[in-house]
Amino acid sequence: MKSIIIQFGGTGDLALKKLYPAYARLLEKGYDFNVLALGRRYADRSEFIKAMINKDESNTITNRLDYLMYDMEDPSAPNILSERLCSLIGEHNEVELIYYLALQPSLYEDAIRQIQQADAAVGCNCTLHKKIVVEKPFGFDLESAQRYNQILETAFTDKEIFRVDHYLGKEFMQNLLVMRFHNDIIRSIWDNRSIESIQIIFDETHGVDQRLGFYERIGVVRDTIQNHIMQIITYLTMNEPATLSSEDIAIEKVKVLRAISPIEDFSMGRYESLGALSGKVVDTPTYAAFKLSVNTYYFAGIPIYVRTGKMQKEAKSLIYVKFKNTTKKVMHDASIHENAVIITIHPELTIDISMNLKEPNTPWKSKPVRFRFNQAETFGANTPEAYEQIVEKILQSDKSLFPSMREIKEAWRIVSPMLDDKHPKEVYPIRTLPRFAAHMADRDKFVWFD
Ligand SMILES: NC(=O)c1ccc[n+]([C@@H]2O[C@H](COP(=O)([O-])OP(=O)(O)OC[C@H]3O[C@@H](n4cnc5c(N)ncnc54)[C@H](OP(=O)(O)O)[C@@H]3O)[C@@H](O)[C@H]2O)c1
Repeated sequence: MKSIIIQFGGTGDLALKKLYPAYARLLEKGYDFNVLALGRRYADRSEFIKAMINKDESNTITNRLDYLMYDMEDPSAPNILSERLCSLIGEHNEVELIYYLALQPSLYEDAIRQIQQADAAVGCNCTLHKKIVVEKPFGFDLESAQRYNQILETAFTDKEIFRVDHYLGKEFMQNLLVMRFHNDIIRSIWDNRSIESIQIIFDETHGVDQRLGFYERIGVVRDTIQNHIMQIITYLTMNEPATLSSEDIAIEKVKVLRAISPIEDFSMGRYESLGALSGKVVDTPTYAAFKLSVNTYYFAGIPIYVRTGKMQKEAKSLIYVKFKNTTKKVMHDASIHENAVIITIHPELTIDISMNLKEPNTPWKSKPVRFRFNQAETFGANTPEAYEQIVEKILQSDKSLFPSMREIKEAWRIVSPMLDDKHPKEVYPIRTLPRFAAHMADRDKFVWFD
């Protein structure tokens, strides 16, 4: 069967930095597909290849890449697309068309309608299969996500729809499930009898001025919280699925999300120079801190503190699980530290278990020591990139790394107070933590794991 990926947003940042390198690796692995990139900014294929493909890269991908100048505003665009698809299909007997939408969410609705039009006009004497891939965020809010989905479902079955959250393609996410559900010792400590609190910290050093047109309508809530952070929370707190199949995992993830109330305890800010390059003030949130809890029997009462955003001093992604410290009371020794599990995603993937052990030459004095797993040292540095895993699953028609529509709907419900918030944002100098994050820690008497 011949597969053709029709890349909407084929000239964008995601395609350039993540998708084309992933396609190149998959082609080298032996997958067989062609890519038709759509975009407005290059007049023809040679201009597109010159700008988008690194000369040093193997020409495996270049040979498979075609380009079509495609402006969605142009009413004749779907016809132009169907004509090109017919010529790519040629004499093949069985063809799969994979429409990949790497566009800003406001364009989804039009794109889906155009795909329907183009798809209906593709005539060939062959067996046609189709798939559609949509990038996160799926929609702008709950209402638009439901609307987009209705439109999608008029043209595609749920099996044919892949809603991407590339975090599910990351090794650390998959490892969270294996760590939790392939280890009896973890099972017995992973609930509200033992865990005191959880912190999720995702700090980025870069800003968004280069992509302001896109980001100013998105902000931190749609960019990371509604999708990546909610997915991390489901992986941290779901009950054991019947199996690690996509259907069984999705059932448990939905239960977690339904047990989270809309987030009311939050603050947001934007970095001081946001918009400076374009000479306008933009009040889009680029940083947020919030607290929520998962109200299930096993996790109710554990505060989950999250802070995430842009233009921080240090790039840092970690999950800090702090355990209750009953020992210091039982042993009448306030110097005994709590135990913790620390999952670091960036700068490198490590999992630490912090335990107290005896410090030599002291009378019963303990010191916290770390037992560390380092992904690269143990398994080598060459774990596949998230997008390679995501695209591979799409090619294999395997939906195990894709959030279901029910999860997406619940996640929009949870973040809706943050989306509706009209308060002015705290303006924070670049490379500094917004004051509200420190206030939350002072108020709740915890220390961010910095
Ligand atoms: N960038 C990332 O690292 C990243 C990571 C994860 C998810 N995502 C998601 O991927 C999606 C795309 O992000 P991006 O960063 O690639 O955005 P981007 O760099 O702004 O690219 C947008 C793309 O849309 C095309 N486009 C815009 N208006 C169009 C129109 N009227 N007709 C035809 N094409 C049009 C642009 O083509 P021209 O410029 O040629 O006109 C460009 O190829 C978003 O949903 C984002 O959330 C991005």
